[in-house]
Amino acid sequence: MKNYSEYFNKKSRMIRSPEIEGGNQGRLAPLQPEHLQHRLTELLQVQNDYFPCFDWAFPPPLLSKRKPPSDAPTLFAQPSVTPGRYSVYLHSPFCKTLCSFCYYAVIPGRGVQHADTYVDYLVREMVLYRDSLSGQVCESVYFGGGTPTFLDDDLLVRVFTGLRDNFTIEPGAEITIEAAPGTLPRAKTALLRDLGVTRLSYGIQTLDEALLAGMNRHYSVPEAIRELEDAVQIIGNVNIDTMYGFDGEPEEALTSTLTAFHAIGIPSVSIYALDKQRNQAKDVQLPPKDLQYEHKIQQFARAETLLHKMGYRQVLQNVFVDPQRGSYRHQLRRWDNLPLVALGMNSQGYAPRRPYQNMISMKSYFEAIDAGRLPVATMDELDPAMELCRELTSKLRFTFVSRSELMYKYGVDVSRVFADLISALNGLGYIANDGDVMRMTPQAAYYNNVIPMLFAPDAFKELLLGLPEEYLQGFPVPYVMTQLGFAQSCPISFPASVPGERRALGRRQHGQRHRSMNGAAVQNQRATVNQRQANRRRADRYRPWLAGTQLTATPGAS
Ligand SMILES: C[S@@+](CC[C@H](N)C(=O)[O-])C[C@H]1O[C@@H](n2cnc3c(N)ncnc32)[C@H](O)[C@@H]1O
Ligand code: SF4
Repeated sequence: MKNYSEYFNKKSRMIRSPEIEGGNQGRLAPLQPEHLQHRLTELLQVQNDYFPCFDWAFPPPLLSKRKPPSDAPTLFAQPSVTPGRYSVYLHSPFCKTLCSFCYYAVIPGRGVQHADTYVDYLVREMVLYRDSLSGQVCESVYFGGGTPTFLDDDLLVRVFTGLRDNFTIEPGAEITIEAAPGTLPRAKTALLRDLGVTRLSYGIQTLDEALLAGMNRHYSVPEAIRELEDAVQIIGNVNIDTMYGFDGEPEEALTSTLTAFHAIGIPSVSIYALDKQRNQAKDVQLPPKDLQYEHKIQQFARAETLLHKMGYRQVLQNVFVDPQRGSYRHQLRRWDNLPLVALGMNSQGYAPRRPYQNMISMKSYFEAIDAGRLPVATMDELDPAMELCRELTSKLRFTFVSRSELMYKYGVDVSRVFADLISALNGLGYIANDGDVMRMTPQAAYYNNVIPMLFAPDAFKELLLGLPEEYLQGFPVPYVMTQLGFAQSCPISFPASVPGERRALGRRQHGQRHRSMNGAAVQNQRATVNQRQANRRRADRYRPWLAGTQLTATPGAS
């Protein structure tokens, strides 16, 4: 008989955050550089994938949550490493039907009758943030779901008017909306363009009609193709979501789908491996192994080769973009620790050093806003080392790490801090270094949800030891992290001066500081600033998405 978790329901949704007990100092095994490679080899046999690719987050959702503040000025009170800038995510939960594979917070079918009220609350939530973000610019908006294009035209107008009334959206901002087949007549696509949408992400999954019917997705493929052709004509910058790994799926289903979309000129393609683990009951006696994993890795490798041949560039492990016509800025900027304002039920945001998530039920979401409170349900509190490691681990997981960029932003040389761990992973062939850039190799694919987590501060790993046994035994991430023991070769120490992109602000006040310094101090200061600017230029070479929609380099591509 299955033994279910007391922290997860039968659909593996977390029902209770674990309490972490303190007093674990000294329980983590000390760093033994000479044994690290051997230890990693043993540990990485344990389990493979727990966090699915697109839902991976550092820190993992295991920590005791702090009580979130009820107002935006308090939530956004910590200093930002990207000062003056933020992005916005909005969630619309409504969908025509509930797809069999989906584990998002969606309200299918007739639930859409609440959409009018829901949009009122979305706009009222924007007002709660307005004053604390005034003077800053919003560089991207992502309207996801659910299926936001399932909303009527007048509701879409209200959402976009609310955004412009309450936030300063910079010219050239990337504004994305998600769509599903059967919800995008030509007139709606034109309306979205007029409302300022610059990018459309269309979930089509596959062109195999038999597979679609098995997913409870009922629409005609020719209709979907017509909607997509209109979108390419009207908006241009269009992404499609495709999926693979279904039972009974023909071997070539994914590659034929990709070939067909390339033929109709789709500029951006995301490919997702079907993740069943999130929807399955967790059996705490067994590690969560995905038996299809190796097969999925092979399918992915074939799709990757095909997309490269077709001229797409890999901007994220599973996202491929035609550099002339597509963009993918919003999601990539998340890994720069750019603040992300979360609007709508269940949406996830990032206030400086405070990842947070909104209430999951519509009732509690409405009640909080009625009471004039932010509808934030859970929040983590990160110290500066955890914030740095959030950027380091996320970039390693999703793209690549530019060490000089992190040095510039945080004043910390991560290659020194994790020297022994990097060298052990290099030795095992899981991490490659190319000058300033470090990334995971294709051989790491099997462990790519676990390896980045090892680059967490040792103090955090020690904290994890205070988790209930269930977490330590049943989940690969905390298990591997705690069993590896200490992995830092030296402490993470921040320079006394203000770190991060905050230096950009410092430079603006530069002249003022010069007046109060003597000659030698001015020269030192200049040398440091020049060095930082050189580092910055080097790092920018690897951050093509910041330069606009034109991608000029992809060192992360493998
Ligand atoms: C938030 S959904 C929104 C897209 C849109 N509603 C649609 O499905 O047409 C974003 C994407 O996540 C992917 N996705 C959803 N559930 C998944 C699962 N269980 N495993 C893998 N990918 C999944 C699908 O490719 C989907 O298009
Ligand atoms: S349409 Fe998209 S969001 Fe809605 S249930 Fe299907 S996959 Fe999930």
